[in-house]
Amino acid sequence: MITFDQAKKLLGGKGQAQLLRYYNELDEAGKNKLLSAIENISWDFEDALKNPVDMSGKDRDIRPISGLRLGEIAKNKEKYETLGVEAIKAGKVAAVLLAGGMGTRLGVDGPKGAYDIGVTKPLYIFEQQMKNLAEVNEKCGVRVPLYIMTSDKNHEQTTSFWKAHAYFGYEEKDVKFFKQDMAPAVDYSGKILLETKDTPALSPNGNGGWFGSLCRAGLCEDLHARGVEWLNIYAVDNVLQRIADPIFVGATIAAGVNCGAKVICKTNPSEKVGVLCMDGDKPDIIEYYELTDEMANQKDENGDLAYCYGVIMNYLFRLSKLEEIAEQKIPVHIVEKKIECLCEDGVTRKPEKENGKKFETLVVDLIKPMGSVLPFEVVREKEFAPIKNKTGVDSVESARELLKLNGVEL
Ligand code: UTP
Repeated sequence: MITFDQAKKLLGGKGQAQLLRYYNELDEAGKNKLLSAIENISWDFEDALKNPVDMSGKDRDIRPISGLRLGEIAKNKEKYETLGVEAIKAGKVAAVLLAGGMGTRLGVDGPKGAYDIGVTKPLYIFEQQMKNLAEVNEKCGVRVPLYIMTSDKNHEQTTSFWKAHAYFGYEEKDVKFFKQDMAPAVDYSGKILLETKDTPALSPNGNGGWFGSLCRAGLCEDLHARGVEWLNIYAVDNVLQRIADPIFVGATIAAGVNCGAKVICKTNPSEKVGVLCMDGDKPDIIEYYELTDEMANQKDENGDLAYCYGVIMNYLFRLSKLEEIAEQKIPVHIVEKKIECLCEDGVTRKPEKENGKKFETLVVDLIKPMGSVLPFEVVREKEFAPIKNKTGVDSVESARELLKLNGVEL
């Protein structure tokens, strides 16, 4: 492990000596804990601060992308379903749940997926999602292997929750957990914050690094041993999430693309959702705040919104392409957040308002390197019930209403 002198030199050179401010007050275990944490800091954030990602989109050549609409999907349903079921039966599809987020907007302790959305009986988010996957497993007569990304902040709680619930009908060998990487959180002058006297403030580094983290955990070998070719990644917050949906799998395979993306069609030009588009000859995602008014209102030849394919964090990625692009860097985004940290009085508190910056890579930035994408429309009311907030838009309340609408007993 790094020595105190080495740490002092390293941090001094980077203008981060404040991390050692309480070193002399710590006992031996605390000193070692701090030195080990300093040794493991990932310094990628320095570059992100120096060269922030250009969010204006001004250098991009944005155009609409074509995708599969509901009508077209219905016409080819049988063909797609047969292809998809075949692939799933052959063990070519795995599911990856991205559950490393902090769920700060929902504001509950513990993993978001362990949140009980039931009314008359318990129904956990994880459980509801697994019910959807169980339907596919039953139809295909196999168990789609599941990989779950956690973070240092929720790993123990997540794994023990799954164990306590008997892996929601899965066998332990078919559910693998892996931890995502952490990134430091800094104050507005770029100084890494301390969470406690012996711990720098670290937080999950966004959902974009999931594949690297999965590989570092040695799970890529597991995928190959099982013959997996496609990874269906999905977010923990959507309780109507359809996982390893055979029709979606079949359509993506039939299209010959490297990535399928489930999308909902925007009907309101100002809806706050990132949409799939082309940037020159590459697929991309443009965030709602990057769309000009003109683009947001632009219509296609059928009179529909030209930029309508809103992404819902359900993607099917071709494994061989993910491996090919694994070394490519994707942008690190800077987000202002409320960061729990050690205050001047020596007490750790969560601030009332934003007090610093976190660094995150995002899944949406993988779309471009994947090279080709199929937007695949789904019925919003049937497949999209995100839980981001406690009340109001995308909340527990709105998700409960949508679950009821879909016949789920609460
Ligand atoms: P969100 O962008 O909603 O972030 O994540 P969040 O951390 O869960 O919630 P807030 O913003 O703090 O309220 C979308 C999906 O990506 C996962 C989340 O668990 C969720 O499934 N995610 C997010 C990660 O796996 N790791 C991260 O670092 C961030």
